[in-house]
Amino acid sequence: MTKAREHYSYRYYRDPNRAREYDGDRYGGATGQWFHELEVESYLQMIAPRKGQRALDLGSGTGKLALPLESAGCRVLATDSSPAMLLEASRKAKESKIGIGFAVMDGHNLALPDGGWDIVVCSRVLMHVVKPERLVAELCRVSRGKVVFDFPPSSSWNLLKPFLMRLKKRGNPGTHPYKIFGVRWVKRELRRQGFRVKEVRRLLFLPYFVHRGLASPRLSSLLERLFRLLGLTRLWGAPVLILAVNSPVVGE
Ligand SMILES: C[S@@+](CC[C@H](N)C(=O)[O-])C[C@H]1O[C@@H](n2cnc3c(N)ncnc32)[C@H](O)[C@@H]1O
Repeated sequence: MTKAREHYSYRYYRDPNRAREYDGDRYGGATGQWFHELEVESYLQMIAPRKGQRALDLGSGTGKLALPLESAGCRVLATDSSPAMLLEASRKAKESKIGIGFAVMDGHNLALPDGGWDIVVCSRVLMHVVKPERLVAELCRVSRGKVVFDFPPSSSWNLLKPFLMRLKKRGNPGTHPYKIFGVRWVKRELRRQGFRVKEVRRLLFLPYFVHRGLASPRLSSLLERLFRLLGLTRLWGAPVLILAVNSPVVGE
């Protein structure tokens, strides 16, 4: 096994038990469901998928975006470096009678042609991978249209990450580290790949684990509506969802 393959982003998600428990861990309970809906809805609004479009979900995991994209009429390929996570996604797709393609692939080096997809999505992956700039380059390489992905921005409560990680670890020893990014850095990487940023959306003002602690989706959405009205989410919210479109330079 290479050193890179020992990185937690491979090791952690390779475990079949973890894959089976992933949805419950991340999106279980009323607050988890509320956040799941918020994420999926936000992605679908930004993507605005059309029937028959080809969509690639990189780091699809248990199919959070792949399944709704298929339901929206897209022809979907779900890829992930973890066979265990894709197995979960395929089990869910089968249960819902949803026809999706699955392929185990490393996002750093996709065995896929240039510009083969109208839509390329990637949720909760950039923060974990060994080489984020390489992942952004691959997302862009295979897209002939839109790229939408998310990341934890440094301009948010993530600034307190070292302290927050210690707190989170106390509640959940399985918590693993993740990277945070400047919005400017992400925009620059996209521009380098010939992509133009069309929308930047921040989802929550309060950290997700605070909402979990509140254990009341009603209170959470009320508070978040208030912070949004006050303009705080736009400045300091997380995660950031970013939509960019392939925009080759003309006249070269
Ligand atoms: C936090 S999960 C997110 C799953 C799903 N996109 C979601 O939002 O629920 C991260 C996923 O990225 C996958 N992953 C990690 N490193 C990867 C890589 N280098 N290439 C492809 N997938 C990777 C993991 O196996 C895991 O399924």
